[in-house]
Amino acid sequence: MTNFDRKSHWENIYSTKSLEEVSWHQPIPTTSLQFFTKNNIPLDAKIIDIGGGDSFLVDNLLELGYTNLSVLDISAAAIERAKVRLNENASKVTWIVSDITQFKPEVSYDFWHDRAVFHFLTEETEIEQYRTLVADAVVSNGTLAVGTFSENGPLKCSGIEIKRYSIVELTTCFESNFEPVEKFQINHDTPFGTVQHFTFVRFKKK
Ligand SMILES: C[S@@+](CC[C@H](N)C(=O)[O-])C[C@H]1O[C@@H](n2cnc3c(N)ncnc32)[C@H](O)[C@@H]1O
Repeated sequence: MTNFDRKSHWENIYSTKSLEEVSWHQPIPTTSLQFFTKNNIPLDAKIIDIGGGDSFLVDNLLELGYTNLSVLDISAAAIERAKVRLNENASKVTWIVSDITQFKPEVSYDFWHDRAVFHFLTEETEIEQYRTLVADAVVSNGTLAVGTFSENGPLKCSGIEIKRYSIVELTTCFESNFEPVEKFQINHDTPFGTVQHFTFVRFKKK
């Protein structure tokens, strides 16, 4: 899929579907939130949510008192939806409209969160590019938390073919620069009653 097609796809999704019409929606992103709450991530940590879309993670992190939040997404429509929802709190967040494969970070991050975005990269060149990007962008001892569809999860996400990862495969993918510290698999109940099996790994930058 070319970058142009990819962007059009996501702009179309966020311009035509409501929150409950997309499989990834979570009213409370419990799994992602526990990465912050259980590990005492400081409130001033520089956090980026990759492909955050209009996820409620940023709302919840603001609520918890986090002060240094960025959300990146390929879709300007998704970012606009999140901004409208957050209203005056939107100005507390750095919003970045970019394809992750084109992203050139201007700062380093203490916490890089990616739920169901990395798995859209199916070509080895783009996977390698992402690995280099995250290794350069996350500070020493910083956190990388990635969630993808598992080896038993769906073959497609939002109608696009994805790459599924077992715990071992996801761990292996990043372990040259990151030490795995937490690994698990979990079922996500979609708003329309289906189940998607996810692999999550939390890493610490070496
Ligand atoms: C399956 S949704 C997950 C949204 C969010 N992370 C969540 O867990 O609710 C995938 C998101 O990644 C974004 N996305 C897909 N490909 C991307 C890319 N190459 N660069 C940046 N964002 C991308 C989409 O616009 C969408 O918001």
